[in-house]
Amino acid sequence: MTRLTITRPDDWHLHLRDGDEMRSVLAHTTQRFARAIVMPNLSPPIVSVEAAHSYKKRILAACSKGARFEPLMTLYLTDNTKPEEIKKAKESGAIYGVKYYPAGATTNSDLGVTDINKCAAVFSAMEKLRMPLLLHGEVSDPDVDIFDRERIFIDRILMPLLQQFPELRIVLEHITTKEAVHFVKASGKHVGATITAHHLLLNRNAILAGGIKPHHYCLPILKREEHRLALIEAVSSGNPKFFLGTDSAPHAKEHKESACGCAGIYTAHAAIELYTEAFSAANALDRLDAFASVHGPLFYELPRNQETITLVQESWEVPKDYAFGASKLIPLRTGGKMSWKLI
Ligand code: NCD
Ligand code: ZN
Repeated sequence: MTRLTITRPDDWHLHLRDGDEMRSVLAHTTQRFARAIVMPNLSPPIVSVEAAHSYKKRILAACSKGARFEPLMTLYLTDNTKPEEIKKAKESGAIYGVKYYPAGATTNSDLGVTDINKCAAVFSAMEKLRMPLLLHGEVSDPDVDIFDRERIFIDRILMPLLQQFPELRIVLEHITTKEAVHFVKASGKHVGATITAHHLLLNRNAILAGGIKPHHYCLPILKREEHRLALIEAVSSGNPKFFLGTDSAPHAKEHKESACGCAGIYTAHAAIELYTEAFSAANALDRLDAFASVHGPLFYELPRNQETITLVQESWEVPKDYAFGASKLIPLRTGGKMSWKLI
């Protein structure tokens, strides 16, 4: 097959940042996706409905003329989030999820939740109002090996949480392990998961073999090949619990290429093309439309997009870098070749 037409996709997990940095990256997403769940981990984070409204306005103002793009906003859960804010969020019609970061787990998560038990009243309101909880599913306990943090989160935090709030709608974001695939499959219809293109394409050798590659460092960290294969199996199975979420997370080059580089991989410049590569390599191109454009709206109870996009099997070269505010960012596959092109 040299030409592939699919329903215009949505990105169910995206970091857009703010200001000039957002203006640098936004078009990559709006050229490809109709909607995106926009992560609230700005500095300071988006903790109120008002802040989410004004962030949404800034995003829409930054969209180029003629772009048809709807940012789906989220709130950042803290120890101090009140059930009233959840009610307000639901009533606003503009907030589609509440994001849980364990304090200290990843970029801009310092104000995240220190003890999940502090959030019981909020979870109870979310369960009642059918407001999805979007989980960064890793423990941040320094005693836990970084490669085990997702698996341990499922056992220690997620299982008890679902026992306490059996109807709570949950998206386990950017899953990376066979244990997470298994957990999501075994859970009820109200538990889904996003999967990134980079976790479908790369294993941990991409960070550590042949020299350290800071641009392949993200959280949850890339895992062993057996886990990548479990993710490939999950997306090629056609199971509607798994849907597209890039977790494209731009950082300035100098913050990545550092003695203590920050976490995040930038994929928005070629997001759907990268997924297409992964599905093509798995002989599962016939499942791409469902994963990228059908399962997400199904979970979020939103209509499917009406438009389509077309990709052709044609080689193109990824630029070495892109502007990022006053700095630059290094995209995934920097200076390398892509095999699918969006037309
Ligand atoms: C994200 C970021 O940079 O905001 N980084 C990442 O490695 N994925 C935060 C996150 O989703 O963990
Ligand atoms: Zn993320």
